[in-house]
Amino acid sequence: MDGRVQTWERAWRDALYGQEGFYRLHAPASHFATSAQGVPGGGEVLAQAVVALARRHGCTRLVDVGCGRGEFLRHVRDLDPALRLTGVDVVPAPPDLDVHEWLVAPGGGSLPHDLHDLEDTLVLAHEWLDVVPCPVATRDGQGVWRTVRVDHRGRETAGPPLVGADLGWARTWLPEEVERAEIGRTRDLAFADLVSRVRSGVVLAVDYGHTLTDRPRHGTLTGFRGGREVPAVPDGSCDLTAHVAVDSLGAGTPRGGTDACRLLLQREALIDLLPDPPPAAPVPHELARLEPAAYLAALARRGALAALTARGGPGDFWWVVALVRPDA
Ligand SMILES: C[S@@+](CC[C@H](N)C(=O)[O-])C[C@H]1O[C@@H](n2cnc3c(N)ncnc32)[C@H](O)[C@@H]1O
Repeated sequence: MDGRVQTWERAWRDALYGQEGFYRLHAPASHFATSAQGVPGGGEVLAQAVVALARRHGCTRLVDVGCGRGEFLRHVRDLDPALRLTGVDVVPAPPDLDVHEWLVAPGGGSLPHDLHDLEDTLVLAHEWLDVVPCPVATRDGQGVWRTVRVDHRGRETAGPPLVGADLGWARTWLPEEVERAEIGRTRDLAFADLVSRVRSGVVLAVDYGHTLTDRPRHGTLTGFRGGREVPAVPDGSCDLTAHVAVDSLGAGTPRGGTDACRLLLQREALIDLLPDPPPAAPVPHELARLEPAAYLAALARRGALAALTARGGPGDFWWVVALVRPDA
């Protein structure tokens, strides 16, 4: 890394997906937990919900974009050996992973060329869009949106005014009170590109995010390393992530054959898709006496479900669902 000052979008991309980028050298699970890995029992619960969604829409194939080292795919494989599985990430497949196919992606908003014409497929992008780099912008004293530049130590300076499509995005999606923000257009384009790879099925992006009604005033760009949140420094030593403007995602998707995106919270989605009683309902006590092993399993399951539906935690994650129907 040199001392160049560059836009956040460029610095972010180099830091995560450059030759020695963070995601080329580090497994996500070594640095942070997600609902797909790292929450005890969480991966199974999430896999059950995603498989239920796939079955609801007649999907026979599941593609996991940004699948890390295939942790979630292992849960899906255990649940439904008949589903055809594809993993996509920026590194080669782990040798012991049982999937039909694995594609290596360039990273960020760029998907592999070989991912196309997917039929009867559920495409999952679990915590992918938050690591798609985007420009960061700040309003100056005159209210003009300016690109934020950064050096390899994370020192920032205000750059030239935003122009063109990025400025258009800021005007459409950032309310007056927002002073600094990540410009989500790159995520909109990445999501639209993903949807365009599907001929029939469902695209499901799951991520932490915000909408016009709760857009953060100062942006959310941050770093993670070794299980801890750290300052966002684009030197390849940490993950760099920012919440996703989920309401703008649907604006970029192709209309032909594609319904508008549906937005729902993870806690709503899991309650809709899983057969479990509400997470707050107690496990019946008499089960402890009659079937102690089943009682313990039910407690563990209830704990996992509670974690994945928790307010202020994964329960607040957004599920962005795009149904893609074959052209009439
Ligand atoms: C935040 S991690 C999430 C991992 C996993 N889905 C989970 O929830 O635990 C983001 C993952 O997306 C991968 N990634 C980034 N850009 C990608 C792309 N264009 N195509 C496929 N994977 C990508 C990264 O390498 C990383 O493994």
